[in-house]
This record gives sequence, structure tokens and C-alpha cells, in this order.
Amino acid sequence: MYFSIKPKEREEDFFNYKEELNRLRELSKKVPLTAVMGPRRVGKTSLINVVYNEWKGPKAWINLLSPPDKNQFFQLLYNKLRYLIYQSSPPEKIRTLLEEFETEKLKVKKRSFWALVEILERNKIKGLLVIDEAQQVVHWQLDRLLAHFYDRLALNIVIAGSQIGVLEELLKKEPLKGRLIEKITLAPLSEQKAMAFLLEGFSQYQKNISSSELEEVVKQLGTLTGWLTYYGHYRLSLPHQKALEEVKEVALEILIEELTHLKDDFDIALHIFLAISKGFSTWAKIKRFVEVYHQPLSDSTFQRILKKLISLGWLEHRGEQYLLTDPLTVKVAERFLE
Ligand SMILES: Nc1ncnc2c1ncn2[C@@H]1O[C@H](COP(=O)(O)OP(=O)(O)OP(=O)(O)O)[C@@H](O)[C@H]1O
Ligand SMILES: [Mg+2]
Repeated sequence: MYFSIKPKEREEDFFNYKEELNRLRELSKKVPLTAVMGPRRVGKTSLINVVYNEWKGPKAWINLLSPPDKNQFFQLLYNKLRYLIYQSSPPEKIRTLLEEFETEKLKVKKRSFWALVEILERNKIKGLLVIDEAQQVVHWQLDRLLAHFYDRLALNIVIAGSQIGVLEELLKKEPLKGRLIEKITLAPLSEQKAMAFLLEGFSQYQKNISSSELEEVVKQLGTLTGWLTYYGHYRLSLPHQKALEEVKEVALEILIEELTHLKDDFDIALHIFLAISKGFSTWAKIKRFVEVYHQPLSDSTFQRILKKLISLGWLEHRGEQYLLTDPLTVKVAERFLE
């Protein structure tokens, strides 16, 4: 069913993106490292979930919803690697090894972490390791860690995230240079596909919704599958306008939470979103709009903020134009500024 709101787990519940799904199926078996990228709510977790559920053999999933500190991250990774080792139907040797280094002698966490990595290496343990929202841990030498795993382990690692620029930068860093890293990018649905998603979704519940309503949904919510799924979910029990309002309310809460991470740049970012939604989409026009409300901004400050918004996945830069990745970000601007 398309309108169930958890990330999807089965292909039959996952609309479109067949090519990306088949690529991930293949790559996750073949290459050491694959990165799945795309805007928030486009369906990255669902895509990986489908492949993860089909995966036969050891597997582990690290979900980094909030940024962990370094110790928490390594502890989490440690637990998941240990879990991979246990699933690999270990010969007695592996069991003995595990037991050995978990005794008093190797209490120092760091050492036991690398001892665990060594067990994976020496025994050529295969398995799928997913690191979802990997951008949360790029500061903890993720580049070195991934390079080490890439070179020494037989694991297939899939990392995912919506801060495309941050992940791209990570993959370009020195320790990972020269390694073939596959990328799968999920783009939002076209308007036509978004309509088809809604139509097919409602037909799974034998519900007929007029195309004028569906057009309004796409016009107001955009084409990210996440918001459309929420609309479908609410519309099953609510009238059209009420369902739209509910989605906007939920979206607003989520987006405010995410955007506050911009800290000092929050206010200017909101004015940039507002400018773009009002049709000012080139560098100079956006800057002029923002400066009506702020002190004049230096070119370099304005450029830094634009670049940051692109890197974090809030904006896209196409030709001369800057576009909103998610039209609902404007709702946040309207709530705070108007
Ligand atoms: N192709 C799809 N078919 C059906 N439902 C989908 C699809 N893609 C996403 N969804 C639904 O949209 C919502 C968001 O999906 P998901 O969590 O997979 O996206 P995401 O890109 O990982 O988002 P985030 O960036 O917030 O982590 C979920 O409710 C999921 O069930
Ligand atoms: Mg996700």
C-alpha cells in the first residue's frame, strides 16, 4: 500500500524508481561502497529498505537520526559490526575470538573496536552495512573509516543522506580518493508521476478522488513522495482541504526542526526561500530581496549562505536559477516572517 507512512519495505509498496532499485540491488552485492542521495522525503530510506529486506546473509542498519557524539557513534558501530559477525554463522574460531577480546584484558574501547574490525577482515566476513543519514557523522573521520573498510573488509556498505553536498564532499576526501564509489541519486517525481502515484495509491483503497483535487495537491505540496504519502494517508479519512492542512501542519513542524540547525543563518535562509517563492530566482534578484529586510550583505556572506543551502539540500542551482527543493519550506518562511 503506497499510503502507509513508514518507510516501505517491499517492492510492491514502493512506487516508481525501478531503475534505481535494480541498480542498488546489483551494486549492494558487487561494490564495497554505494551512496544513495536525494532530497529529504524523496524515498531514500524506503529504497534501501526494500533491498535490505531482500538481502540474504548478515546485515546491519545504522540509523543516525540525531548526531551522536564520537563515543556513541563508535559504540553503535561496534554493536552493529559485532552483530554482523554473529550472523555470519561463525565457526567456533570466531566465537572464541569474540569471547576473548570482550574479556577483561581488552577493555579499552578503541582497541576492542579495531580488534573487531580485524575479525571481520581476517575471516573475510561478508554482509551488508547500511549507514542512513551518514551526514550526521562525517566529522568523526567517516572518510578514513570507510576507506579502511573499503580496502580491508568484504562488507558491502551503503551510505545515505539528504545533504547531498556534504556527502559529495565526504566522498572526495583524500582517504577515499581513487576508489570507485557508486552513487544513486533519487530525484523528486515529475508532476505526471506524482499524479499517477496518488491515483494508484487511492485505487488501492478503491477510492476515487477528482483530478482537480489531485492537481491542487501537487501544486501545493510539490512532488516529493513523502508529503504525497502523508496526504494520501490523511485523505483516506478526511476531506480534501482538511487533509492538505494536516500535511502542511506536520511538514511545518518537521521543517522548522530541521531548519533551526542553520542557527545564525536561519533568518536569511527564510528570506531566500521567500524570495524564490515570489519568483526572484537569480543570484542578484534574491540578494536584493533579502537586503530589503536585512542590513546589506557582502557578496561573500550571501554566497556562503547560498552554497550552504545547496550543500544541505534545501536549494538547487540550475543554470542561472536557484530553486527550492521542497516548496513547503516556504511555509516556514511564511510562519516566521509574515
Ligand atoms: N517510492 C515510494 N513509494 C511509496 N511510498 C514512498 C516512496 N518513497 C517514499 N515513500 C513514503 O514517503 C515517506 C518518506 O520516505 P523515506 O523515509 O523513505 O524518505 P527519505 O528520503 O529517507 O526521507 P528523509 O530524508 O526524511 O530520511 C514514507 O512515508 C514512505 O513510506
Ligand atoms: Mg531517510
